[in-house]
Amino acid sequence: MTPPQSIRYVNIYNNFIYKFYDLGLKIGLTPIGEKILRYSVYEAISPYIKKGDTILDLCCGTGTLTILITKLIYRECIIFGVDLSRGQIFQAQKKNQYPNLNFLVMDAFELKFPDEYFEHIIISAALHEMRKSQRLKVLSEVFRVLKKGGRFIIFEHHEPSKIFHRLLYNFYLGFIEKITSNSAEMQREILKELKLKHFLIKTQMLVNRFFNFFQIIHSIKI
Ligand SMILES: C[S@@+](CC[C@H](N)C(=O)[O-])C[C@H]1O[C@@H](n2cnc3c(N)ncnc32)[C@H](O)[C@@H]1O
Repeated sequence: MTPPQSIRYVNIYNNFIYKFYDLGLKIGLTPIGEKILRYSVYEAISPYIKKGDTILDLCCGTGTLTILITKLIYRECIIFGVDLSRGQIFQAQKKNQYPNLNFLVMDAFELKFPDEYFEHIIISAALHEMRKSQRLKVLSEVFRVLKKGGRFIIFEHHEPSKIFHRLLYNFYLGFIEKITSNSAEMQREILKELKLKHFLIKTQMLVNRFFNFFQIIHSIKI
């Protein structure tokens, strides 16, 4: 039996990619600037973070975004980064210097946190690797562990509407993602899926950099 697609990805991350993930992203995102992209997620969430809040970076990979957010916000917050790949978490733990940040191996389909535990949840560049049924499972788990009024921030691909930008996007990112992942379907469906899982969508912002190849969706558990 073939494993579910995101689990297949996790095996690839585990066996190979985790060693080169950070370097690969740095090189791959050079035309845009990885730091700028990461910072845009921080900017989307930071106005809402208060001292003592509990924050989850779901499918955190090697923890680059989790560490940036930890560095920039109050020490008093408690932050978790979770990922199903041991290799990715191993790299994240190596980089972690913060006592209030914990990296754990955990399946986003079955989170080991109690209901209503987090004020804020972030997921960056992971939903496009999942099938619809898997995305819905993740959204259900996010809804369960998020507090009422809590914020859910999605950072993901975005295919621009202008024809020249769309061509560039497909040349740079979109074409390969259309073959290897569920990026196009995720982009079409994600707002409907959030509504289906009872999230209130606050904003869908394009990251105003490099022809809007990325978007940030900000929603709330009501
Ligand atoms: C493209 S990487 C993104 C990593 C990180 N969020 C970033 O922005 O660099 C996708 C991550 O999702 C993780 N992942 C995939 N399925 C998962 C699942 N069911 N539970 C937890 N993590 C998962 C993979 O192991 C991988 O590290």
